[in-house]
Amino acid sequence: MAEIKLINVSKKYKEDVVVDDLNVTIRDGSFTVLVGPSGCGKSTTLRMIAGLEQQSGGEIWIGNECVNDTPPGKRNIAMVFQNYALYPTMTVRGNIEFGLINKKIPKTEREQLIEEISEIVGLTEYLDKKPQQLSGGQRQRVALARAMVKKPKVFILDEPLSNLDAKLRGQMRTELIQLHEKLGTTFVYVTHDQVEAMSMGDEIIILNKGKIQQMDIPMKVYHDPNNIFTAEFIGTPAMNIFEYEKVMQRIPQVEKDVSFVGFRPEHAILHFSEKVEEINKLTLPSEILTMETLGAETIYTVKNFAGKMNIKSFQTPVEKGKKAIVSIPYEKLYFFDREGVRIRHASIKKASPAVIGGV
Ligand SMILES: Nc1ncnc2c1ncn2[C@@H]1O[C@H](COP(=O)(O)OP(=O)(O)OP(=O)(O)O)[C@@H](O)[C@H]1O
Ligand SMILES: [Mg+2]
Repeated sequence: MAEIKLINVSKKYKEDVVVDDLNVTIRDGSFTVLVGPSGCGKSTTLRMIAGLEQQSGGEIWIGNECVNDTPPGKRNIAMVFQNYALYPTMTVRGNIEFGLINKKIPKTEREQLIEEISEIVGLTEYLDKKPQQLSGGQRQRVALARAMVKKPKVFILDEPLSNLDAKLRGQMRTELIQLHEKLGTTFVYVTHDQVEAMSMGDEIIILNKGKIQQMDIPMKVYHDPNNIFTAEFIGTPAMNIFEYEKVMQRIPQVEKDVSFVGFRPEHAILHFSEKVEEINKLTLPSEILTMETLGAETIYTVKNFAGKMNIKSFQTPVEKGKKAIVSIPYEKLYFFDREGVRIRHASIKKASPAVIGGV
């Protein structure tokens, strides 16, 4: 078990800065997810923690030790990758045992470890099979077992589920969460899938262009984003964001330097009546463009003078082209400055009751 600390860590390839001055403490025993778009520096960060890549600057600490000069084999970290790289000619047992033989662990102890770990990951009955006789999920479990027998202080996993189909991926997510609970070891997990990040992590680090955008618990990242990048990256459909200028007539006196306004698709209400009695709500006369029915709920795309936006609603679908008023309570609006940084305390002077018509 160990805490991981990155202090001013950066990575350059020639002149390209791919990881830019990271300062992070990954809590001992946490399931921390590193998420961000392709190319943002996630794998590079993991590889630096594991020692497979030398950082260009800064310090990496694992537990009480600065590991800048510690080779990968001595860092007590186990890695699991997207392609699990199993030895095809060896059995499951052979694959799990390989690292232990290398570490000169005596045979009786090896056998005991293999038994114990394969029980945990549900591989006991597959120990004598070869990798090609296993399903994708079972192979992934072998890769996990191989990492686990080393009893590492830290697990780092780089998109380990991306080769699996949607159903199996869902199942393996749950298994990994349970595995983490059972082991209590620090997990650092990389994905570009925000749904995976939200459902698995107890801490999420959002990375963009090598820089941390936010580090928080999932609900905080969703409800309290630091900036437009995080607000749009987390959540499906994404938060609707538009220029403040377009709606300023309808939001009385915001007392800060606001450039952009946003709201989550589920926080808006669609009204199909002629007039809407609204107090302290932003109301936008709109037209329905498209509808995507997801069973219980429908995602509407609407158009209005502020732009196109998505609304998530339990209302039954209507015909395209229908007029509707979109209303969003003022307290559900998010405000951002010109750079996209969240303005948390932009207070709105509340309006007096009004009837707004105009469908
Ligand atoms: N050996 C290398 N030489 C030069 N540039 C590299 C090297 N390795 C990675 N990069 C660059 O560093 C950036 C970050 O790469 P990295 O693999 O960390 O991204 P990632 O966030 O893991 O992306 P993905 O989600 O696609 O796996 C990319 O722009 C990539 O092109
Ligand atoms: Mg990667």
